[in-house]
Amino acid sequence: MTCAGAAAARSLWRLRAGNQRPLSACGRRIGVRFRSSGTTLDGISRAAVDRIIRVDHAGEYGANRIYAGQMAVLGRTSVGPVIQKMWDQEKDHLKKFNELMVAFRVRPTVLLPFWNVVGFALGAGTALLGKEGAMACTVAVEESIAHHYNNQIRTLVEEDPAKYGELLQVIRKFRDEELEHHDLGLEHDAERAPAYTVLKSIIQAGCSVAISLSERL
Ligand SMILES: [Fe+2]
Ligand SMILES: [Fe+2]
Repeated sequence: MTCAGAAAARSLWRLRAGNQRPLSACGRRIGVRFRSSGTTLDGISRAAVDRIIRVDHAGEYGANRIYAGQMAVLGRTSVGPVIQKMWDQEKDHLKKFNELMVAFRVRPTVLLPFWNVVGFALGAGTALLGKEGAMACTVAVEESIAHHYNNQIRTLVEEDPAKYGELLQVIRKFRDEELEHHDLGLEHDAERAPAYTVLKSIIQAGCSVAISLSERL
């Protein structure tokens, strides 16, 4: 059985047995406990944790598709290695949220097929404006994601930082890496993209809609 499959099986067994011990994924403790009702967590509601994991998974999935689109256009240019490095980190982010979805038994958003196409089109489309366009897209998206992660960190810290320790650790680490991507975008001339301010505003408005929809659907 795969690591993810084993985690799912353990989670299911514990829920059925009404077991209140912390769940674990591949030996790593996860600081959220289910109550025997199976519908609420200690403190924060089950629905809130579902939303956090579902939307973060969707965001990391979308980020992967954006970098895939950028690489399809700019992979062989001077910024190819920079984009590849950011994409590699996004792959790690997505892998982690895939694991968390299994461990917490959260379903993905139904919009994944849509984000698949939209993410790639956004990455490739802005890359067609040149490397500055791709970097402007990176700055806009990463700033939105970092802001979104900061909101989640605030929510979890206000609730119980000890209880949600592992989730907080993951989100903080990813927030810091998204900010590094943001800074890399600026270092590689994002602000020299055509209509940078307008482009950034449009992309960030799209990110807000994507976040809102992915939390709920
Ligand atoms: Fe990411
Ligand atoms: Fe990123």
